[in-house]
Amino acid sequence: MITTELTRTLGITHPVVSAGMARVSQADLVIAVSEAGGMGCLGGVSFMPDRLAGEIAKIKAGTRNPYAVNLLLPDSLTTEDEAQWAPVRQLWNTLREEDRAKLAGVEALLTPGAVAGQVDVVLEAAPPAVVLTFATPGWFIDECRRRGILVFALVGSVGKAVQAAEAGVDFIVAQGSEGGGHTGYASTLALVPGVVDAVRQPVLAAGGIADGRGLAAALSLGAVGAWVGTRFIASVESYGHDAFKQRVIDGKLNQVTLTRSYTGKPLRAFRNDWTEQWEPRAAEIAAFPQQYAVAGTRVESGYQDGDLDEGMMPAGQGIQIIDKLLPAGEIVREMVADAERIIGRLNSSVTD
Ligand SMILES: Cc1cc2nc3c(=O)[nH]c(=O)nc-3n(C[C@H](O)[C@H](O)[C@H](O)COP(=O)(O)O)c2cc1C
Repeated sequence: MITTELTRTLGITHPVVSAGMARVSQADLVIAVSEAGGMGCLGGVSFMPDRLAGEIAKIKAGTRNPYAVNLLLPDSLTTEDEAQWAPVRQLWNTLREEDRAKLAGVEALLTPGAVAGQVDVVLEAAPPAVVLTFATPGWFIDECRRRGILVFALVGSVGKAVQAAEAGVDFIVAQGSEGGGHTGYASTLALVPGVVDAVRQPVLAAGGIADGRGLAAALSLGAVGAWVGTRFIASVESYGHDAFKQRVIDGKLNQVTLTRSYTGKPLRAFRNDWTEQWEPRAAEIAAFPQQYAVAGTRVESGYQDGDLDEGMMPAGQGIQIIDKLLPAGEIVREMVADAERIIGRLNSSVTD
C-alpha cells in the first residue's frame, strides 16, 4: 500500500488519478477507477450542462468513492463577447444537421454561455474534487471552498504552477510535454521537481506515466501521486472507437506530434494527414477555441468513427509502453503493485 498526502486527504486507497480527458473519460471510466481505489476524473469540458449533470448523477449512482470533474475556465471560453465567439458560431450555423449531431459531444466548447452552465452544475453537485485546466479564477476557487470541494490545477510550467498556488488551489498537477492532449514544452522529469520546489501545495505528476515504473518515478520526483491519461484510453470503460484504442496499443513514440491544427493550442495527438497538412501553414492556424471551427467534425471523427487519416486522436508518448486493452480497475491495481515492487527492490538495494 502506498500512502501519500493525496490518499490521506481524499480518503482513497491508491495515489492514482485518471485524467479528465474530454470525450474519453465519461462516467463508466470514472466509476471503474474510483471503485478500484484510485480517483476517476470526469472529462467535463465537452458536455453541455444538462449532459454534464447526467454524467455526474451516473457517477454518484455508480460509486460512493471520491471522484473529480475537470473544467476549463479560461477567459476565451467564459467570455460572452460576441466578436470572440463569432467564427465558432458562424460555423455552427452553417453546419448540416448531421454534422451538428456529430459535434454534439463538443458543443459546449462551441456555445457561448455553456461554460457558465457547467459551473452551475458542478457547484450544485459539489463533487469531492474539481480539476481546473488553463486558468484558476479566484471566484471559482472561493465557491468551491464554501462547498468543501478540493481544487486541483493542471499546469505545464513552473510559472503557471506558482500562479495557481497563489490563487489558492489545494493540489497542483504538473503535466510534462510527454503527455497526451494539450501540453506545454517542459518534460515531466524536469517539470515535476521544479514545481515541487516552487509551491507549498502537494503535487501530482503527469505526462508519460503509463505503468508502475512511471508511478514509482513520480513518487521519486516528490509527487504525491500520478495523473494518468493515455494509459486509460486503452481501457474497456473508456469512450472512443476501437480503432483509436488499438492505435494506442500499437503506437510507437514517433507517431505522436504536437499540433495546433485541431484546437488552436498545442495538443499532443497522433500525426496524420490533417496534422501534416497544417505543419507548413502554422501561421494560418486560428486561436483557441476558434480553430475548432476550422477543424469541424474532424475533432469528433477520430473518437466516433475511428478516422485515422484526419480525425483528432490525442495521445501521449506513453503509447510506446502500452500493449494491451485492460479493464480500468486492473490498470490501477497493476500500476500500484508494480510500483510497490520497484520501490521495495530499490529500498533493498541501498546499503550503508
Ligand atoms: C484523449 C485525451 C483527452 C484529454 N482531454 C483533456 C481535457 O479535456 N482536459 C484536460 O485538462 N486535459 C486533457 N488531457 C490531458 C490529460 O489531462 C493529462 O494531463 C495527460 O493525458 C497526461 O499525460 P499522459 O497522457 O501521458 O498520461 C487529455 C489527454 C488525452 C490523451
